Amino acid sequence: MSTHIAAAPGDIAPIVLFPGDPLRAKWIAENFLDDARLYSDVRGMLGFTGTWNGERVSVQGSGMGQPSMAIYATELFSEYDVQTIVRVGSCGGLTDRVGMRDVIIANGACTDSGINRVRFHGLDYAPVADFSLLRAAVEAAEGLTLDASVHVGLLFSSDQFYSTRSELTEPFVAHGALAVEMETAGLYTLAAYHQRRALSICTVSDHLVTHEATTAQEREQSFGDMIEIALRAATA
Ligand code: HPA
Repeated sequence: MSTHIAAAPGDIAPIVLFPGDPLRAKWIAENFLDDARLYSDVRGMLGFTGTWNGERVSVQGSGMGQPSMAIYATELFSEYDVQTIVRVGSCGGLTDRVGMRDVIIANGACTDSGINRVRFHGLDYAPVADFSLLRAAVEAAEGLTLDASVHVGLLFSSDQFYSTRSELTEPFVAHGALAVEMETAGLYTLAAYHQRRALSICTVSDHLVTHEATTAQEREQSFGDMIEIALRAATA
């Protein structure tokens, strides 16, 4: 048992899918894994282990934002020897280059967060995806018949969902950021520090240019393409 995860050593697989929403973790476990078993419900942040195509895979809720995500990622890496984390999340489109329900495989992430500023003494670190996972995810996407369009590009990991400074994202969009979410920059930084593999795959659930949105139920259930890509990439 770690501070925030009530699992025994060995209960968690070396591969973890990492949605923000604990109910999406449950939905993934029930719909994609065989023999899934709940290993933790501390603070309602559900975690399950099962198998996918015969390989052990866990799925753990991370909560929203870098501070919550970092608690779970740090404990998974340092106390459960997790080797691979694939975030499967939602994001808000920042440009008309991406459409609703498109899938974004993040090769890197910019951020407005203060976390890395403290970590790197005010200097700028470039959080990037693990290349083997990135390549495997692109190959998986190319091998599947998908409803969604798939993009490889930059995410903007914001500390605020309800920002009053939307103009601050403009230079990031001008330099390639496709969508905003709240976790990826921190996850890539922690994976690098622990010398483990991480990748973020996000589905566009709302759009800051067109102002379209999905319902909570659609968000929970319409992300099958992304989960399929993530499972194939993580087990490749
Ligand atoms: N902002 C931040 N995070 C998000 C968004 C958003 O619009 N959509 C999904 N995650």
